[in-house]
Amino acid sequence: HTDNDKYTYESLTETASFLRKQVPFKPVIGIICGSGMGAYWNQGCLADALDGKIQFPYEVIPHFPRSTVKGHVGELVFGYLTGVPVVCMKGRFHYYEGYPLWKCAMPVRVMKLLGITHLIVSNAAGGLNPNFKVGDIMLVKDHINLMGFAGNNPLQGPNDDRFGPRFPPMNTAYSKELIIEAKKVAEELNMQDIIHEGVYTCLGGPNFETVAELKMLSMLGADTVGMSTVHEVITARHCDLTVFAFSLITNLCITNYKTASNPNHEEVIDVGKMRESVLQLFVQNIVTVIAKQ
Ligand code: 6GU
Repeated sequence: HTDNDKYTYESLTETASFLRKQVPFKPVIGIICGSGMGAYWNQGCLADALDGKIQFPYEVIPHFPRSTVKGHVGELVFGYLTGVPVVCMKGRFHYYEGYPLWKCAMPVRVMKLLGITHLIVSNAAGGLNPNFKVGDIMLVKDHINLMGFAGNNPLQGPNDDRFGPRFPPMNTAYSKELIIEAKKVAEELNMQDIIHEGVYTCLGGPNFETVAELKMLSMLGADTVGMSTVHEVITARHCDLTVFAFSLITNLCITNYKTASNPNHEEVIDVGKMRESVLQLFVQNIVTVIAKQ
């Protein structure tokens, strides 16, 4: 991929107007449903619970990348969640699929052009913090952009000021207000015992980490590790979206050489299913809070 392959403002506007022509309402919140929130099976995804759904498989949307992960559905779903107009990504684009980061994060800009002001991002992640248990939820208060350390960033290349500034700040990436509101929502749902707050880090994948790598990430201050979210959030903050993100802990990271068990993709899916209904309520209530602001 070269800079010339990158999306222009005009091509993203084409994508947005294709969608806008077919959707009679303007979404105010974008939601990225990862494998922690039902994007791996056909029923039970938050996107399926929307009222007045209008669905677009990624293949039919002009300029959209195509999803390649086995079992991963790829659809943009518009609809109402507790009366609030939203747009959901059912399935996302991962770096390990072979897309450059700017392509993985492209739908965030399309959702911005469609009129969203807030982005809710979910992911499945390994738990590094020893206080975390499988099935717990971590509200992301910050991230470590490890791929950025290596010189890979979704905002590389010419900057288009119509999206945002050349040098966007990232110290306020995750809305403090929404974390406070999400904790209240969690208490109302009696989820307070499974809720944490912490730092997420993203690696390119597709392999899970070695013991030495996990020890290193833990020493660096990461509480969860996954393969998504960071580049989406950077792109969202660049165009001034308010961001709320959470990790579903699907496995505990092994930081010793004695434990023989392996992390695997099946457990990621199983834990997602286990938390399916409560996470839907959680996101639904956060959407209600945002819409009232
Ligand atoms: Cl242990 N690592 C990464 N990179 N992603 C994950 C994970 C671990 N568990 C779920 N997703």
